[in-house]
Amino acid sequence: MELILAPLRGVTGLRFRQAFVAHLGGLDRAVAPFIATVQGPRVKPELLRGVDPAAQPPGLPLTPQVIGKDPAQFRVMLRALRDLGYAQADLNAGCPWPFVAKKGRGAGLLRDETALAAMLEAGCDVLGPGNLSLKTRLGLDDATLLPKRLPLILSFPLRELCVHPRTARQMYEGTVDLDAFARVADACTLPLVYNGDIRTLADFRRLAARFPAVSRWMLGRGLVADPFLAESIRADRDARDLDRFRAWHADLLERLAADAPGDHALLGHLKELWSYLAPTFRDGTRLWDALKLTRTRAEFERALALTPLAYADR
Ligand SMILES: Cc1cc2nc3c(=O)[nH]c(=O)nc-3n(C[C@H](O)[C@H](O)[C@H](O)COP(=O)(O)O)c2cc1C
Repeated sequence: MELILAPLRGVTGLRFRQAFVAHLGGLDRAVAPFIATVQGPRVKPELLRGVDPAAQPPGLPLTPQVIGKDPAQFRVMLRALRDLGYAQADLNAGCPWPFVAKKGRGAGLLRDETALAAMLEAGCDVLGPGNLSLKTRLGLDDATLLPKRLPLILSFPLRELCVHPRTARQMYEGTVDLDAFARVADACTLPLVYNGDIRTLADFRRLAARFPAVSRWMLGRGLVADPFLAESIRADRDARDLDRFRAWHADLLERLAADAPGDHALLGHLKELWSYLAPTFRDGTRLWDALKLTRTRAEFERALALTPLAYADR
């Protein structure tokens, strides 16, 4: 079994991964939040900072992810990643945001079979067989599009196919469509990764029982909300520990603060993080309401210190 950290742009970036590895465990590897393709023959080093190999924490192999629709631009980005030392990369065909998907990128790639084929062709050509992976959804408006594209996708020598069983229209709302995922799994001849709504050990046990042939599991919001989720799954028991949580959080805060140009930017990161974390705790709504109102690092830390943390019952 492999547990993979999902790419969440703005959340599971370099600092999150560094603090995670310093304090927590259970993950086998990670996919980095997407890097967008660029025009022209050169990729500015700033764009690649989050995947700089020298800064990556040891023990959590990273696959960079690219979003785009132009095969020539995709090649340029993949070569830049290869020059950094990455043999593998992931193509984003799942981003649901309308301003992305409408332009044929992210989940929008599923709409245009020719564009999808050209991107897969370019990726497999630059990286070689078995090195490009694809992360996608069931479709745009309904769950019929991925099954339609599956023969094309399976005709490429991909490393794996990761499916979040929602449509783009659903964004992150509603329920995952496990029947549709089961149909994809039946037809899929590539290694398949399940991704979506694994929030607790009980969720994982249920999904693992339903899909015994799946051995690769990607954890996103569930792991951000409970950073012990991967350890709990590995140990098959609740591994949460408030002292270790506090140590991890303090370390992550320091790392984010060192990067942020000021409190405003830091608070943006912390509030996004705590929008996931707060519901894990007793009185989470009250805690979140208090944190939301803070405007400086000092205010934030004071609001956090005023609430004695205890895990909410599951
Ligand atoms: C804030 C946010 C940012 C995300 N950024 C990315 C991204 O950069 N690349 C990607 O493939 N998916 C991205 N996703 C989707 C997640 O990787 C994942 O597929 C989705 O959250 C479902 O899994 P989960 O229920 O375990 O969170 C993002 C999701 C969220 C909520």
